[in-house]
Amino acid sequence: MTEKAGLSITGNHIAALLHDIGKISIPIDILNKPGKLNKHEFNLIKDHPSVSYEILKNIEFDQPVAHIILQHHERMNGTGYPHGLSGEDILLQARILANDKSGDELTALLDAIATNVTHFFREKSHFDFLVQHINDIGDSGNLRLWSAGCSSGEEPYSMAIMLREHILNPLSPKPFILATDISTKILQRAIHGIYPMKSVENLDRVLLRKYFLKGKNTQHGVVRVKKELSDMVTFERLNFIEPFQFDRGFDVIFCRNVMIYFDNTTRQNIVRKFYEALNPGGYFIIGHSESLNGIQHTFQYVQPTIYRRKP
Ligand SMILES: C[S@@+](CC[C@H](N)C(=O)[O-])C[C@H]1O[C@@H](n2cnc3c(N)ncnc32)[C@H](O)[C@@H]1O
Repeated sequence: MTEKAGLSITGNHIAALLHDIGKISIPIDILNKPGKLNKHEFNLIKDHPSVSYEILKNIEFDQPVAHIILQHHERMNGTGYPHGLSGEDILLQARILANDKSGDELTALLDAIATNVTHFFREKSHFDFLVQHINDIGDSGNLRLWSAGCSSGEEPYSMAIMLREHILNPLSPKPFILATDISTKILQRAIHGIYPMKSVENLDRVLLRKYFLKGKNTQHGVVRVKKELSDMVTFERLNFIEPFQFDRGFDVIFCRNVMIYFDNTTRQNIVRKFYEALNPGGYFIIGHSESLNGIQHTFQYVQPTIYRRKP
């Protein structure tokens, strides 16, 4: 699946390292000891999930990675460590990892986790740039924006909020926001538009009240995007590696934090297809840690991470 999608295996290597990251606290001679460990040495080994947890607990993932790793030596019958949890008190993902002799599950799990991370108004300067420049493109009511690699939907919903707040004339026709991803599972989450409170805690209070409904009773602790936002976004499955074509061009394409997983040849092909999919004068925006250096393209450079099709 990863190879078919054109993903590199770098993510797999990182993932494979993560679950035992806490072993850095264990002296090397204990890790390499050929014979039986004494009680003190075994206690040090048993600490490594907790050390991994401490290292990872403040890193942002969209699944409880630190907890999964904390529990990956727990056992169904309660004989595992560090907390002697049993049965369903152990997270399902940790139970899967515990039975994962080949390491494939771990790789797949952590790869999936690492590649879907996103949040509302991530890399906010791109939204600020559009607020300033979008009028150069044309009539705001007919704008067409594409969030390519939209993950769980925070990016296209942020586009919708930006348009409503800064650009749209309430009487004009509605702009079109297409949001696509390769993963149908993540698209389902995007379509539901339900997010933990934590994911909107940095959002301006006024925007929160205006565009989100707070869950009550069984939905306590989550928010849902209001209909006026979800009505503006069309979600579809699309794999950039495959050919794609649209009847009408786009004015803005965000393809942020996706191409880092592709090799240069794949990236070059995709960038060419995005160029074709843009209207003249349209903007192509990539993630802050990405660049188009090293690949051939016909975009005009605007500023780091922002490119434009010739008007
Ligand atoms: C790290 S998320 C980025 C989300 C958002 N663009 C952002 O910057 O916050 C990367 C997304 O790209 C999607 N993706 C990876 N390979 C893809 C492909 N070949 N075609 C379409 N989407 C892909 C992943 O499923 C994932 O949801």
